[in-house]
Amino acid sequence: MVVCVPEAHAGINDALTHGNARHTKRKMVAQASIDPQTVHDTPRILVVDDEQVIREILADFLSMEGFWVRTAEDGSAALVELSRNQYDLVLSDLKMPNMGGLELLKAISEHTPNVITIIMTGFGTVETAIDAMKKGAYDYILKPFKVEEVVHTIRRGLERQRLTAENLRLKEALSLYKVSEAIASSLSLDGVMSTVTDAAVNEVNADAVTILLDDGEGNFFERAREANPAFHGDGDVGELDPKALHAYFADDKPLRVQGSEGVRFFSTPPRALALSSLLVIPLRIRNRMIGFLAAMSFTRTKKFDEGQRKLLSIVANRAAAAIENAKLYEDLKGTFHQTIKGLASAIDKMDRYTAGHSERVAAYAQILAIKLGLSPPDVEIVRQSALMHDVGKIGCVMNLNKPGKLTHEEYAIFQRHPVFGKDILEPISFLHPLIPGVYMHHERWDGNGYPLGLKGKDIPLFARIISVADTYDAMTSDRAYRKALPHEVATREINECTTSQFDPDVAGNFLEAIEADRKARADRGDPVPD
Ligand SMILES: [Fe+2]
Repeated sequence: MVVCVPEAHAGINDALTHGNARHTKRKMVAQASIDPQTVHDTPRILVVDDEQVIREILADFLSMEGFWVRTAEDGSAALVELSRNQYDLVLSDLKMPNMGGLELLKAISEHTPNVITIIMTGFGTVETAIDAMKKGAYDYILKPFKVEEVVHTIRRGLERQRLTAENLRLKEALSLYKVSEAIASSLSLDGVMSTVTDAAVNEVNADAVTILLDDGEGNFFERAREANPAFHGDGDVGELDPKALHAYFADDKPLRVQGSEGVRFFSTPPRALALSSLLVIPLRIRNRMIGFLAAMSFTRTKKFDEGQRKLLSIVANRAAAAIENAKLYEDLKGTFHQTIKGLASAIDKMDRYTAGHSERVAAYAQILAIKLGLSPPDVEIVRQSALMHDVGKIGCVMNLNKPGKLTHEEYAIFQRHPVFGKDILEPISFLHPLIPGVYMHHERWDGNGYPLGLKGKDIPLFARIISVADTYDAMTSDRAYRKALPHEVATREINECTTSQFDPDVAGNFLEAIEADRKARADRGDPVPD
């Protein structure tokens, strides 16, 4: 066997000819080699050859070149090693006992396709080399070789692997675009949380993902957590330490750590799991830190790389904006609900007989909307529209509470209240979905209603629903001009007005829904109105 080495590494040539010296040299090199637990970005190479001398020379030389190297004496030993540790490149002999190079190649392309393989062959013919490359080898080296040539081929292979990985990332970026869209379109904070944790788990193949958020007073709490469905840990992934993260990110450095080094960022480290890799990205809105998105790996062979950190950064940037939007939207919704409730109660207070009317109409309309099978967002629109249905009465400057009938003029103004309601809601865009119910709740199925005189299904469904709920509550509560009618009378009236005043289908469903609701109340022991 002849191994040619350059002049500068004559020590290895000496080692080849002086058995003991070789071992001394090897020990020395082994000490100088890089500890995988401290330097994680060092390319990791597995040398597979049945000849011990070749294994040792290559291990020594490649270690001196800055690679992290392990060796295996044949294909099956290599597979065992590949299942234990993560490698970037396998440099393998072709002809070996137990399992040869071609068989190993096949197994690598099936199980660890990202590992690049270079074949060494001592009886190399072009055909054998081509066969190896057809089976997925990146390149081949003919024995005897110059170690410089080996290093050159390895570096070329690793560069190609890097480019392939970048290409893959580009493809991932496309899927990331879809993820971004999904994040941006989630309006509720819960929706954003679940989209972001899903995306983070999928994009970087994390075992667990967690999001810490600011509570608005500078305290951080875990707002969401998700585990990879393929991960079978005990679920106790520990708790990150917001203080340690804050201190770390003060310097604006990226946080990607491998192995147990990441444990210092935990206030409660995972109890039974060994941390293999940790990625944390700060969530920032205009330089203000609003939280952290963290991906964790507890799988020994799964270490996050720089590309994955960048991917997660993109997810985190989109997430920060979406979280801010969702928070604003939820605040706005809170304010909006307060405003609606306030307005509804102001309307009801205009008339002492209608106290609580809007709230009750909203409750009846909601029951009916659910009975009709409307989607939850539509049920909510119906409920809010019903709560606001008489908001236009604010525009009727007159005494709606006077005993006896309204004069002809007063009634004409009263009939304008749906129009006033529409006018009140129109300038506020997020109240627009409430307009149909408010504007058209006095339309009638037979076309004799107001203000538009619409007929049948030309009347929006939300308005048809509110119309029945409004009438039922008006009949079953005291009015200035009469006492409340009993439930049975009111339902009979509604039944009789089906096809003239009400959509028959909507009215029929209302009668069923209200009976079911009264029964449920009675069963619960709640009061049921007469
Ligand atoms: Fe009304």
